[in-house]
Amino acid sequence: AQVPMINILEAALRHGYAVGAFNVHTPHEAAAVIRIHEQLRAPAIIQLIQPSAGFMGGREDFMNATPGEMRCGISRFCRLVRPMMEQASIPVALNLDHGNDPETAKICVDNGFSAVMIDGSHLSFEENAALTKQISDYAHRKGVTVEAELGVLAGREDHTGQSREIYTDPSRVCEFFETSGADCLALSYGTLHGPAKGGSLKIRKEIAIAAFENMRFNGKIRPLVSHGSSLVRPDIISEINARGGNLQNASGVPLAQLLEVIPYGIAKINIGTDIRLSILRSLREYFDLTPKARTSGITASVWERMCLEPGCIDERRLLAPIRQ
Ligand code: 13P
Ligand code: NA
Ligand code: ZN
Repeated sequence: AQVPMINILEAALRHGYAVGAFNVHTPHEAAAVIRIHEQLRAPAIIQLIQPSAGFMGGREDFMNATPGEMRCGISRFCRLVRPMMEQASIPVALNLDHGNDPETAKICVDNGFSAVMIDGSHLSFEENAALTKQISDYAHRKGVTVEAELGVLAGREDHTGQSREIYTDPSRVCEFFETSGADCLALSYGTLHGPAKGGSLKIRKEIAIAAFENMRFNGKIRPLVSHGSSLVRPDIISEINARGGNLQNASGVPLAQLLEVIPYGIAKINIGTDIRLSILRSLREYFDLTPKARTSGITASVWERMCLEPGCIDERRLLAPIRQ
């Protein structure tokens, strides 16, 4: 059944584990996430980024979706995914990931999301807290969980362009929770989005530890979120490249480093790139094994049916030649 995301995260905190939060781009992928978690008997968190909502609203250049197309995509997605969540034999939460405007976050709340992230990480502490507070007040009235972000991840954020890394100031974590009303908080602590995280990525574990201490000192431990946490498995990269791909400099977060921060309040681990890479691998396999697909033209519906990732520009460009 569907539950508020905070329920899943509080159970994780209480028992000392973290839950993967998986970015999907179509309802088919949401079904897959639920199915696999039912097999594992584990709670599931499904996430949607705004460009995917635009894509489902019928916009092929999904980065330029109008508010109307966005609204249409969100309601289409929810119409199909909410029954799946209700019928699931495990707790499931649906989160808007990196919401970047209050309107979209509110549309998601109104359509029955279990959580929304409002990403004000590019703003000052005060502006970020105020923006988050506005969403918290709206979402909490409907029992919806709010995720915020403090500090800026390096590299490409999901839709805010290139950014310079600013680590989270762990001494202000509790203060941010109090002033923003957020239920969980994304840290900037060395991870980054996308398939090229640099060969020597190092999670700044001391930032998670200090954030945890800051919360403990103030008497309330709340869930922290690890963004940019895909593993970018070398075997999947090899298979993509063996079928004509050209992914250079692919590297992810070492699993051992993620396991080390879970004891310090990291209760949710965001995975998007790994999903997209797996889909890309399957697409390349499909095109290899189905020569007709190459010549008959890949229509938008095949594109969608094959769950093509609509958020990662590099992979789309990579696939462009086999679209003809
Ligand atoms: P990855 O790009 O490492 O999968 O990060 C996903 C993420 O943080 C989604 O919010
Ligand atoms: Na951000
Ligand atoms: Zn993220």
